[in-house]
Amino acid sequence: MKGKGNEGVARKLFIRTYGCQMNFYDSARMADVLAPIGYVPAEGPEEADMVILNTCHIREKAAEKVYSELGRLRALQHEKAAQGGRLVVAVAGCVAQAEGAEIMRRAPNVDIVLGPQTYHRLPEMVARAHRAGGGGGVLDTDFPVEAKFDHLPEQAAPQGASAFLTVQEGCDKFCTFCVVPYTRGAEYSRPVADIVAEARRLVAAGALEITLLGQNVNAYHGEDEGGRARSLGWLVRRLAEIDGLARIRYTTSHPLEMDDELIAAHGAEAKLMPFLHLPVQSGSDRILAAMNRRHDAAHYLRVVERLRRARPDLALSSDFIVGFPGESDADFRDTMRLVEAVRFAQAYSFKYSPRPGTPAAAIQDAQVPDALKAERLAELQAALQRDQRAFNEACTGRTLAVLFDRPGSRPGQLAGRSPYMQAVHAPLSGQALGRILEVRIERANASSLAARPPDGQADAA
Ligand code: SAH
Ligand code: SF4
Ligand code: F3S
Repeated sequence: MKGKGNEGVARKLFIRTYGCQMNFYDSARMADVLAPIGYVPAEGPEEADMVILNTCHIREKAAEKVYSELGRLRALQHEKAAQGGRLVVAVAGCVAQAEGAEIMRRAPNVDIVLGPQTYHRLPEMVARAHRAGGGGGVLDTDFPVEAKFDHLPEQAAPQGASAFLTVQEGCDKFCTFCVVPYTRGAEYSRPVADIVAEARRLVAAGALEITLLGQNVNAYHGEDEGGRARSLGWLVRRLAEIDGLARIRYTTSHPLEMDDELIAAHGAEAKLMPFLHLPVQSGSDRILAAMNRRHDAAHYLRVVERLRRARPDLALSSDFIVGFPGESDADFRDTMRLVEAVRFAQAYSFKYSPRPGTPAAAIQDAQVPDALKAERLAELQAALQRDQRAFNEACTGRTLAVLFDRPGSRPGQLAGRSPYMQAVHAPLSGQALGRILEVRIERANASSLAARPPDGQADAA
């Protein structure tokens, strides 16, 4: 029997996550918050009593997905209701924060709308939604004064061999194209003691690798036990003291916040993996200024040079936007030049998408036509893919330590990540799952590597 609001009766929860890794972390924490009131994971929306869409507002396409998904869920809600049941639908994340009231208006089948800073209050919202019985939704998109991290359960579902840990949230940078400062709010750093405790719990539950997350993770300045503000570089070295933790990563960084302590950590701390995602957006000083990135291309190249001096094998990744308002051919050439200079191991690139409420979207007469954006994107992506392939090919014949954390796409295969974040697959049995193994790279594909298992490697030696 399915209880309405009865504690101790298992109800099924399905969460669909869009957007960045912080949203994936948040989804896991929402599941943790709902576990004590009886929610267990569902395989899909069809068998769920509650579906949460954890949404992303970064580009128009991402935001529009929400409404089409809500349309599909409405049909499911009707089916459930016809059988005397109920499917509660919640919209969380950055679209919820940005346009909560509009969601309620456009999609009356939504029971709950909650922002990224209020999900510790979910049990209360669920209870209210059940009391309302389908009429009238619950909207909670506050930026509460209490930090949600202080109200989340310590007990967390295990994340496996590679785990995420949010250390910093929000952004005060206000790049002119970006919604994040509005959807996530002001920068906030969690205290060191909380992070160390959470890291220890993750390691005890089987994590070998922890990725420290933040919208501006290297702006981290949390207080240590003595009340002193500490940098991310310091935090990395502190976490590296945890026995059993083999790998540390962090994402996403801003070029202005790569301080000496963090760059030094790349040279000094073997557990800090030789891979860094460092978004640059553009190689044109004029566009960087219009984006309010607050640094020029030369600054970025200097940071890269210092990082490579500290850690010569560091692999770099980045984000690019083409077609920012006013971007000329000459500006785009500057971006291509920066790509040639750095040679990224991997990268993400996007057409500029005007976002409501951001300063760049209000620039009336300088929007770049879509066809030109598409042309530039294709040229940029061809260069980035060429560099990624070259980086991958340079790894063939090498032995790399791979953390195998998931089944491969074919039976009898496992997949994992190299120190440089490359996807690697190898013919291995399930026994190797959750382990770091030295494997020999046999073949490079466009975006992954094929490896030979350790015994084959012994033959080759
Ligand atoms: N905090 C990170 C990035 C957050 S968003 C940073 O400071 O770089 C992830 C990426 O989405 C950005 O790096 C940017 O390349 C892209 N992006 C953000 N807003 C965008 C927009 N309006 N149009 C296109 N791409 C955008
Ligand atoms: Fe957005 Fe800029 Fe903040 Fe990154 S630094 S989240 S791109 S405003
Ligand atoms: Fe998207 Fe929000 Fe992350 S807008 S990229 S989910 S911070």
